[in-house]
Amino acid sequence: MTDTWLVTGGAGFIGRVVVEQLLAWTEGPQVVVLDAMTYAAHPVALRAVGESYAGLPESSRLTIVEGDVADGVLVSKLMARVRPRVVLNLAAETHVDRSLSNNAPFVRTNVEGTEMLVRASVDCRVERFVQVSTDEVYGDRVGRRAARETDGVEPTNPYAATKACGDALVQAAVRSSGLDAVITRGCNTYGPGQFPEKLLPLAALRWGADQPMWVYGDGLQERVWLHVDDHAAGILAAARVGTEGAVYHFSGGRPRTNQATLESWRRALGLGGRPDDYLRRVADRPGHDRRYALGDQETRRQLGWAPRRSWRSGLRATAKWLASNPQFWASSLEQHGVSAFFAAQYGEPPVVAS
Ligand code: TYD
Repeated sequence: MTDTWLVTGGAGFIGRVVVEQLLAWTEGPQVVVLDAMTYAAHPVALRAVGESYAGLPESSRLTIVEGDVADGVLVSKLMARVRPRVVLNLAAETHVDRSLSNNAPFVRTNVEGTEMLVRASVDCRVERFVQVSTDEVYGDRVGRRAARETDGVEPTNPYAATKACGDALVQAAVRSSGLDAVITRGCNTYGPGQFPEKLLPLAALRWGADQPMWVYGDGLQERVWLHVDDHAAGILAAARVGTEGAVYHFSGGRPRTNQATLESWRRALGLGGRPDDYLRRVADRPGHDRRYALGDQETRRQLGWAPRRSWRSGLRATAKWLASNPQFWASSLEQHGVSAFFAAQYGEPPVVAS
């Protein structure tokens, strides 16, 4: 029987790298991507990944299906047809600020979508289900130790709440339907191809247009950063050798303040100036978590996983990629109401026409 892996959200930022790493395995599986191709997806880049492998036509290892993970009929039909052995669920709405202004798409994709996928996976006797989640489900860690793999969830924003719900549905299916699933939770991820609504690519976009980057509140909120290649490698390690029902954490090191992160990023981009000139303080995000921190000791021990990229080399490689792909998101920024969202959020679009 063919070994097929279904990757939902495979045209997204982390999903695309997961697909690339799967295709890089020699004798690796057939990969089927299901992706709704919403604003943060990049189908052209995903097709290029498929085409770059061994000079084979895309169809030989990678099949791309456009569709909504919350469409139960579509998901059941697709699963019955392709019979995946493994399902990796990376389909998600992820931007906290968007969830604060309209959480409906988050509930649909992150909660209903997960439920549809879980049900179809039980019906199709999938051997391994991986739910890709986030450190945000643990809520604010200020004044507290880093979250451990066995800790309970305490989400504080609508996005994190939908991810925690999705995770709970997966955990319930492990207990009550015999689904062999694992859950992965990573910290803030960065790297090539990230949509410029997140901190680092948005700053690069702003600075590239000679605009200051917006900093929420005092800029002293802390996040841990992980390169996307390391995050994807962790997800695949959990898929291959994780223990049924377990939660795995992928942390990138120590928490850094947003202000310090932006200063390092500015240097990696080879740009100078004083923070007062290239940063602009704006109103804080409602309910903004001051600190995220993940402990990943158990994960490292059990999966043999560790991040390979240092912060400095990861930032430099990302800056290099941006310099060679300046137009990567150009058409998307004009579509899907993205500019309108920025204008409503910050009072101006990301790039102000001069
Ligand atoms: P983000 O990339 O949205 O990830 P998350 O909220 O999931 O951690 O934001 C990272 C941090 O940067 C977060 O503390 C919010 C802050 N931030 C800003 O200060 N300004 C911005 O314009 C954005 C998008 C984020």
